[in-house]
This record gives sequence, structure tokens and C-alpha cells, in this order.
Amino acid sequence: MSISSLPTVNAILNSLATVFIIVGWFHIKAGRKESHRKSMLAAVATSTLFLASYLYYHANAGATRFTEEGVVRTVYFSILITHTVLAAITPFLVGTTVVVALRGNFERHRRIARWTLPIWLYVSVTGVTIYLMLYHLWPPTA
Ligand code: HEM
Repeated sequence: MSISSLPTVNAILNSLATVFIIVGWFHIKAGRKESHRKSMLAAVATSTLFLASYLYYHANAGATRFTEEGVVRTVYFSILITHTVLAAITPFLVGTTVVVALRGNFERHRRIARWTLPIWLYVSVTGVTIYLMLYHLWPPTA
């Protein structure tokens, strides 16, 4: 596999993580705790793979510039900045949420998870959005 195909692989892993997070959320809303646990651990595994592949790609391939002008540029950078800030705290939030749950402290788990879930979901969905905008909708012109 060439390094140029990694952004697509990363977007697929990100999309898969998004699906697991949403499925896990539906499970806990319906009271299915064991299915919730499995879905969330699958989301963590997928996200971890994504992070490793993302870091490898950026260490070896550098950055791709967004060259489109106009309103879409403002939209792109608004998404990119909010995504980046929240992505920096997401691993700590997810890690704490999972460790607390695995230790059986579900009262604390619920309190933290109410922040973790929407933030993690936003980061995953905007990760895929950025990929689509940068590589497919408005690919670099020079
Ligand atoms: C980062 C991963 C996870 C996230 C984002 C997450 C998210 C959530 C959320 C938002 C709730 C509260 C639902 C509500 O009250 O409306 C919840 C509850 C719960 N979660 Fe997780 N969860 C994660 C991982 C886990 C894991 C790994 C386990 C099992 C070890 C687990 C077990 C539970 C249980 C048992 C509840 C219900 C707690 C109660 O009834 O008080 N969760 N989770």
C-alpha cells in the first residue's frame, strides 16, 4: 500500500469509529449495557488504529494545503480549527471515560461520558468532512 492511499484508509477508519460510537450510544439509551460496552471498545480500537495511521502519514508525507478561496475557505478553516482543538483533548477524555467504566465506577463514567460522547462524535464526523473537502470536493490546484 502506498502512503498516498493512507488519507482514504484514515477516513474509512474514522467513519467506522463514528458508526460504532452512534451504535454504542443507541445501545445505552435502550439499556443494553453489554452491547454498549462492546460497541464503545470497538470504537476505541478503531480510533486508536486511525490515530497511529494518521500520525504515521503526517510524519512521512507532511501537510496538504487547502487552496480554494471564498466562503468555503472560511467554512473549511472553522471546521479545521474546532476539530483540531477538540481532537487534542479527545484521547484524554476517551481514556478516562473507558478506564472509569472498566473499574466499575459508572456514576463517574456517566458524568464524564456525557461530554466525551458528543465531543468524540464531533471530532470523528468533522475528520471525515475535512478529508472530503480537502481531497475530493476542493482538491489542491497547485
Ligand atoms: C469512550 C467510551 C464510552 C463512551 C463515550 C460511553 C458513553 C456513555 C454514556 C453517554 C452513558 C450515559 C447514557 C445516559 O445516561 O444517557 C454511558 C453509560 C454507561 N456506560 Fe458507557 N461509554 C463508553 C464506554 C463504556 C465501557 C467500556 C463500558 C463498560 C465497561 C461502559 C458501560 C456503561 C454503563 C454500564 C452505563 C450505564 C451506567 C448507569 O446505568 O449508570 N461504557 N456510557
